[in-house]
Amino acid sequence: MEERLQKVLAQAGVASRREAEKYITAGRVKVNGRVVKELGTKVDDRAFIQVDGRPIRRERKVYLLFYKPRGVVTTMKDPEGRRTVADYVRDVPERIFPVGRLDYNTEGLLLLTNDGELAQAMTHPSHEVNKTYEVTVPGIVPEEKLDMLRMGVKLEDGMTAPATVNLMQYDHDKNLTHFQVVIHEGRNRQVRRMCDYIGFPVRYLKRVKMGPLTLQGVGRGRCRDLSDGEVASLKKACGLHA
Ligand code: URA
Repeated sequence: MEERLQKVLAQAGVASRREAEKYITAGRVKVNGRVVKELGTKVDDRAFIQVDGRPIRRERKVYLLFYKPRGVVTTMKDPEGRRTVADYVRDVPERIFPVGRLDYNTEGLLLLTNDGELAQAMTHPSHEVNKTYEVTVPGIVPEEKLDMLRMGVKLEDGMTAPATVNLMQYDHDKNLTHFQVVIHEGRNRQVRRMCDYIGFPVRYLKRVKMGPLTLQGVGRGRCRDLSDGEVASLKKACGLHA
């Protein structure tokens, strides 16, 4: 993936983006052995970059789509010694971290990255991306209750934004209702609290989609790298330039 030279310099900790621009125009920066003075220059992951003749240390950007199982904490370290996300990505040398969180007992799609800018943009309230959850609750849920979720419900931390809710199936034998909820907010335990509010506590919760990403083809407890196209559309979805 290509990025602007000044951004790459800033990400490598050489200088602020503004300062890095000055380095470039002053002719202090070389890309693959050649001085580059144009500010618009884009470089890819493999470019060899030097400032004042010294190579800069670049960390490869990593974007992993992870299918978090239930019973896993969404952190890289747990003081209580429970299983964490880090247990599943031991062979990734970069310092990746989860974007947002899923509860211990929620399974599904979690993004892991070392791209702080993207993580921040994705969790910023002004451009949070849509997240789709599959919800299972005991009993038969009347449509009026689902309508309450559609309109927004009053939780301790305020009204929820209108959600898209689709009834999927009622399982007679098990007396369970399955439905999908799409929200763009990311409050703590939001879906569980919304369901508590309507009197149907969650039995099972799974995030199946986040912005343009889906769990398709990824087994439980497994990861895959995002394609460049997926990274670009994720950035676009949260208002960043690819
Ligand atoms: N909402 C919840 O209640 N839990 C999650 O893990 C994610 C969304």
